[in-house]
Amino acid sequence: MRFRYPPGPRWPAAVQSFLFQRHRAWLLPAMRRRYGDVFALRVPPYADNLVVFSRPEHIKEIFAADPSDLHAGEGNQILGPVMGEHSLLLTDEDEHARARRLLMPAFNGASLRGYRELVTDLARVEVDGWDTSTEVITLERMNALTLEVIMRVVFGVTDRRTRDQLAPRLNRMVDISPIVLLGWVIPSLDRFGPWRRFRANQSQIDSLLYAEIAARRRAADLAERTDVLSRLLQVGSETGDAPLTDAELRDQLVTLLLAGHETTAAALAWTVYELANHPGLQDQAYAAARDNDDKYLEAALKETMRLHPVIASTARKLTRDQVIGGWHLPAGTVVNTSILLAHQRSDNYVDTWAYRPDRFLNNEVGPNTWLPFGGGVRRCIGAGFSLMEGTAVLREILTRYTLLLPADGKPERGRVRNITNVPRRGARITIAPRLRVASPM
Ligand code: HEM
Repeated sequence: MRFRYPPGPRWPAAVQSFLFQRHRAWLLPAMRRRYGDVFALRVPPYADNLVVFSRPEHIKEIFAADPSDLHAGEGNQILGPVMGEHSLLLTDEDEHARARRLLMPAFNGASLRGYRELVTDLARVEVDGWDTSTEVITLERMNALTLEVIMRVVFGVTDRRTRDQLAPRLNRMVDISPIVLLGWVIPSLDRFGPWRRFRANQSQIDSLLYAEIAARRRAADLAERTDVLSRLLQVGSETGDAPLTDAELRDQLVTLLLAGHETTAAALAWTVYELANHPGLQDQAYAAARDNDDKYLEAALKETMRLHPVIASTARKLTRDQVIGGWHLPAGTVVNTSILLAHQRSDNYVDTWAYRPDRFLNNEVGPNTWLPFGGGVRRCIGAGFSLMEGTAVLREILTRYTLLLPADGKPERGRVRNITNVPRRGARITIAPRLRVASPM
């Protein structure tokens, strides 16, 4: 088979990597305009050869492919130093399938219903503390809230001190500068400055997690507990799988804690910004929140994730030479389903740049066009959880306050923090107490 990479820029790989890391919202649409629907980039250390796809039929082909031909775990290797080798995000084939079977029950519909009350209680405490006389930096507040939520969901009732010690360390762990990233590529740097601090922080997190795992294994009430850690300590027997070891548990816990909070916080901050920016839609969202109707709030979140995808793409590494989207690609190529480009295609979405939650209520969204959570056997395990959390939090915010843009109301733009797309200015808003209007009889 003769390989043929799709067209792409001839700039040095370092320039492409820098633009891909820092300016992908500009780079990807520009490359698509210049080279067409499928194009190739060189973006080490993420991928030496990356081929970017966004057409629905190509996305379908990639997500439906045999997971032994397309390795997502290998495609996500850049996250290895943080998440750990056993992480659900980083494993493939049998190891991935087993971990997924063991983790899944903690995120199924019944489990989610069980977490909702906790989320609502924590959101209420957070939102009641907001000050109407000053600006709220929504992104900061949502980060604090979603971290508290995921820690409580993962650990259940624990010593407050463990959570207080973990929270700042987890925040430090995800605040990855390009300098720290360099240390992952050159491990000998580990002994110096920022890289040594990164490792030290990581071992403090590990000690806290291993202590929590050991204490939980001994807990007399383990069988009655519904938090994720307690569930994970008990799974395996019914599926015939070997139970998770401590090292595996550590990696899955870090993965859930990190993947499970910044992403949802970003989606919530963008939604609050969009609703403050569209008072008419905010009125509709308020009416839905007041009437306990989740559908509109969920549509608002979904439209936010379309217009401001939190994660720009998913990655799969080819384990053998194969044809994808008509291109003969060699083993080792990383195929990239571009969430960002798929959501901007005018053949996928009319009024592409308009914020219109109703498109999710009118069956306007075609298959393989809305991809914020990726797809196939690797679809985000927390998708249902984050939509449940998002609607519960929005409900608490909207029933208390009217959301307004600050007087200097400059439009928000995105920036990539770690790997998530967040509002550059933090989605600052001002708030006014909501005058409760009784729902029409
Ligand atoms: C708005 C919120 C979120 C977004 C946008 C998001 C996005 C994603 C994306 C794009 C992937 C990759 C899927 C693929 O490769 O096809 C993913 C995977 C994953 N996410 Fe999320 N996520 C969110 C929330 C969460 C939450 C709340 C959790 C956990 C509680 C979570 C845990 C995971 C895990 C464990 C994986 C790996 C799944 C696998 O490889 O089998 N995510 N997520």
